Amino acid sequence: MKTMIPVAKPYFTEEEERAAALAIRSGWVVQGPRVLEFEKMVADYVGARYALATSNCTTALHLALLALGIGAGDEVLVPSYSFIASANSILHAGATPVFVDIDARTYNMDADLLEEKITPRTRAIMPVHQIGLAADLDAIHAVARKHNLVVIEDAATIIGGDYKGKKIGAHSEAVCFSFHPRKAITTGEGGMVTTNNPEIAQKIEMTRSHGANVSDFARHGADKVVIEEYPVLGYNYRLTDIQGAVGVEQMKKLDWILARRIEIGTRYNQAFADLDFIETPYEPPYAKHTYQSYCLRIAHNSPKTRGEIMAEMQAEGIATRRGVMAAHLEALYVNRMGRVALPVTEEATQSTLLLPIYAQMTEQEQTTVIETLRRVVTPTKQPVGV
Ligand SMILES: Cc1ncc(COP(=O)(O)O)c(C=O)c1O
Repeated sequence: MKTMIPVAKPYFTEEEERAAALAIRSGWVVQGPRVLEFEKMVADYVGARYALATSNCTTALHLALLALGIGAGDEVLVPSYSFIASANSILHAGATPVFVDIDARTYNMDADLLEEKITPRTRAIMPVHQIGLAADLDAIHAVARKHNLVVIEDAATIIGGDYKGKKIGAHSEAVCFSFHPRKAITTGEGGMVTTNNPEIAQKIEMTRSHGANVSDFARHGADKVVIEEYPVLGYNYRLTDIQGAVGVEQMKKLDWILARRIEIGTRYNQAFADLDFIETPYEPPYAKHTYQSYCLRIAHNSPKTRGEIMAEMQAEGIATRRGVMAAHLEALYVNRMGRVALPVTEEATQSTLLLPIYAQMTEQEQTTVIETLRRVVTPTKQPVGV
């Protein structure tokens, strides 16, 4: 098989291997002390009072919605331009997603379009910080306050990112992160809810673990027999201690990983700046891009279509991906709600393309991606410009 430059690659060293091995050797592998340590690191890092680890971000979103009392009959405003898990988590909670279009430059929820979608059943807004760039939280919170709605952030892609200089993680009632391998740091699968609200934290702590009022680890550490109770319906949405141990090591690397991604993203921006049919990522005044993915928009005047570019890059050993999907176009949602019109989302999902980006990407690998893309899109020879 041909060696490919992949779109993403987790950054692990022997520290993660050692930490996972130690967790295994300890004999305690379900949620326990290493998950607690990971949670504390994330809470401290993002500036939230509580952090609750979960099996992934989809389950984090589900639990956050339930903890905020959102369920049957309720509507939640969410962008369609996101991985399908954002909308699906609302269905899991028994509520209805109501899709809101995005801003063409940031690819995030357009706060100006929220009010027209509000009905007497609207209970919450779920902004998604798409591919590492914060949504305009102040504008979203202003609408939420005016209409008495709660805000649950889908922060799957943005651990370490900021909004107006303050880390994402404590701006809203609940903030949900992902540690899937396509994200800046990973625990294989994994998620986290951060919140400043003790009631929400307590509910999530119970519902992620079958609704039990005492955790396995607390019972194990007690000096007398403790018999747990199950007062509420819960799920098994726990993270393992093996993953928690990996998460602790990944958190130590987070700032370096983000700095590297920003360096790589900035070099791509410079390398394509002269091509008027390629739009590089926009950075609004209120947030810095963390480049969870590096996304280009291929304009209509491009000599090659997005599909042609992807196929030709693939043939040259460089993986690319389409930009973000649009959930409202999937059969699951068309069958439920008919065909919703979201013109900006539909244009973006057709025209965007993700290039390889990962912390350990070498200068040579990036040069190869840049030169190949320029060669593929411009049939006549172009100066490389890097
Ligand atoms: C915006 C967004 N929300 C939610 C998820 C779901 O995260 P997980 O795979 O951890 O369940 C993803 C994952 O790609 C995502 O990109």
